[in-house]
Amino acid sequence: MKVSIIGGGGLVGSCAGYALQLGRIVREIALIDVNQEMCQGQALDLLHGAALVADQKISAETTAGCANADVICITAGLRRKPDESRLDLINRNVALFRNILADLKKTGYRKDAIVFVVSNPVDVLTYLAMHELGLPANQVIGLGTVLDTVRLRSLISDRLQVPPTQVSAIIFGEHGDSMVPIWSAAQIGGLPLEKYPGVTASFISEIEKRTRGSGAEVIKKKGGAGFAVGVSIADVIHSIALDQRRIMPVSSLQNGVYGIRDVCLSVPTVVGRKGVLEQIEIELWPKEKTGLQNSAKVLRETVDKVLQ
Ligand code: 2OP
Repeated sequence: MKVSIIGGGGLVGSCAGYALQLGRIVREIALIDVNQEMCQGQALDLLHGAALVADQKISAETTAGCANADVICITAGLRRKPDESRLDLINRNVALFRNILADLKKTGYRKDAIVFVVSNPVDVLTYLAMHELGLPANQVIGLGTVLDTVRLRSLISDRLQVPPTQVSAIIFGEHGDSMVPIWSAAQIGGLPLEKYPGVTASFISEIEKRTRGSGAEVIKKKGGAGFAVGVSIADVIHSIALDQRRIMPVSSLQNGVYGIRDVCLSVPTVVGRKGVLEQIEIELWPKEKTGLQNSAKVLRETVDKVLQ
């Protein structure tokens, strides 16, 4: 499988490329970036390590290289400032994103390609890509709250000193201020989180606050996320590459689960080689369901502004 990363010269794109290289699953990693010198440098740096990692083709390409890509991952975009919301980015990133979509339409892409949006505000830009590329909606997905979910699991594990891979928790809705942690489903080692030693109401609200603010916290300390978003991107791409059909909180066009339609956000979604295979409606606490519907409302208002 060939993965093209538009924005591969930047922090998010190059970390995604590195996570895919270490994952050893995809056959080809092509980095694309307007900053061609940086892009070539990132590709060369990855390639230098190839002899210790895997037999993959690693290159720096132009957008034309997307014509034969199985997955086109778009990470390019301006980063927000620590005190800026992801939705505030909309005015600056939509124009840039529309140019990327126009280039893609010019150079062409496979009719079975999966377009995987990471650029922010990811839910709005996923909707825009779905709207403008003419691919079936199931083939256009966004990273959505996958990164938030990974952060939540990792922060819970760090506070309780339990193995991070044994923490099961999930966040739905907007990758943004209205995201909805699904505490009703959280577990540690198969045991209900809310009954686990050390878990109190204040623990939950503190972890939730820290997770919501994690993007801004990382931006403030080091300018922006790289490693965690990179492994999150690779995890979704691996479910596509191997047709694993894992249930992941990726962002995609909603068709009625929880009464939500015509907006992209994260719900339980089966992800395989054809992209979105199924969206699952599981019972949530009433406040979780209303939180999800609020996410949809916030995003719909923004999409309406963008598509005006
Ligand atoms: C974050 O939360 C990049 O939006 C991403 O760090």
